[in-house]
Amino acid sequence: MSEANQVAGVSVGIDDISFATGSYRVDLADIAPRLGTEPAKYHKGLGQEQMSVVAADEDPVTMAAAAALPLIERGGTEGLRTLMFATETGIDQSKAAGVYVHELLGLPNNVRTVEMKQACYSATAALQFASAIVARNPKERVLVIASDIARYDLDSAAEPTQGAGAVAMIISANPRVIELDAANGVFTKDVMDFWRPNYRAQALVEGKLSISAYVEAVAGAFSDYQANGGSDFNDIDFFSYHQPFTKMAQKAHLGLAESLGIEIDKAAADEKIGATLGYNRRIGNSYTASAYFGLLALLDTDEDLTGKRVAIASYGSGCVAEFLTGRVVEGYKKHIRADEHLEILDTRVQLDDATYYAAQQRVIEDQGNYSNREEGMLRGKGSFAWAGVEGDKRIYVRR
Ligand code: COA
Repeated sequence: MSEANQVAGVSVGIDDISFATGSYRVDLADIAPRLGTEPAKYHKGLGQEQMSVVAADEDPVTMAAAAALPLIERGGTEGLRTLMFATETGIDQSKAAGVYVHELLGLPNNVRTVEMKQACYSATAALQFASAIVARNPKERVLVIASDIARYDLDSAAEPTQGAGAVAMIISANPRVIELDAANGVFTKDVMDFWRPNYRAQALVEGKLSISAYVEAVAGAFSDYQANGGSDFNDIDFFSYHQPFTKMAQKAHLGLAESLGIEIDKAAADEKIGATLGYNRRIGNSYTASAYFGLLALLDTDEDLTGKRVAIASYGSGCVAEFLTGRVVEGYKKHIRADEHLEILDTRVQLDDATYYAAQQRVIEDQGNYSNREEGMLRGKGSFAWAGVEGDKRIYVRR
């Protein structure tokens, strides 16, 4: 363990990591005719093939619980005293969605639970706050969950960049998957590139502005990372960027290199980012979870990554960015779930455009507050369900 991997003298990082997604999917080739374009625009122009779609009885809570369940089943709850739930798909103005997850997972009462928000960035804040808790008391472990449903107006340019998914991580001392470096870089700037007012279920976005704001913010965060003892650009083996669509990772990487005066072409960028794109290409945008789906796609590849330095480049519109790195721990392959993850993606049920469109329209018309119990609505296949609303209270069950 090098000094770079120590936070307050303790090795801290990701000890276990797993994901969940919506039970359904749409192939972007199927929605292209309605949007008056060629599938190639999505496949090549955006780097997207599919997007995950949630059932009427799935939401950020059910996906979060499904993502975290394998971690609890394997690792138990010993030392677990904090659950941080990162989301921008808030289901309540007051109660933390993580409290429902706490109940669904059967966690002990002596676990604090909190929800965190800053667009697609907040899971990275949670990761850092969790690391600080563990550095203070290495016996503690923290459950960090990022869970979101990306929804934009139907028939808009942003529609093909929707998606849904959750990533859950256990942060601990002497982690078995990734040891985080102490160095990190942060950046905040007030930009109105993407926002979701309280009265809307779908976000508003200035798409082109969000791309330029993202590139500027990541460059700003990287510069701060280097000023705080971070590695050189060329000493980082892989970069997992936030991926609202996977082509954005390429734009961000080329933009970061340019900001540093380093000349690289698309092939060189692909060597550093290509392995992080596979899951997001099939899931779509999962907001807070997206950069961590990138990390998982990389970890789940066949290549042995032991000792490799991996960067997380996190961006949340509005905007906040953070750049951090870590090293892949020897023996990590024993702890990842590549086969299970592929099965989750492969067993999603494909929807045609008309069925998907009607389901989305229903959510948007009712701004997410409708009864989801009616006949004929899409039902989820996962372990947890949102069973409806009674007396303005959301009800969740384990199937
Ligand atoms: N074949 C191949 N590529 C094609 C194509 C075709 N038939 N038609 C278009 N393209 C390419 C364009 O050249 C462009 O590539 P480039 O960005 O490398 O120049 C890309 O597809 C996108 O097309 P474009 O017309 O520029 O964008 P758009 O109006 O469809 O909007 C977004 C794209 C991403 C701005 C929009 O989907 C959006 O707002 N998404 C939500 C916000 C978001 O994800 N922001 C990212 C930062 S957080």
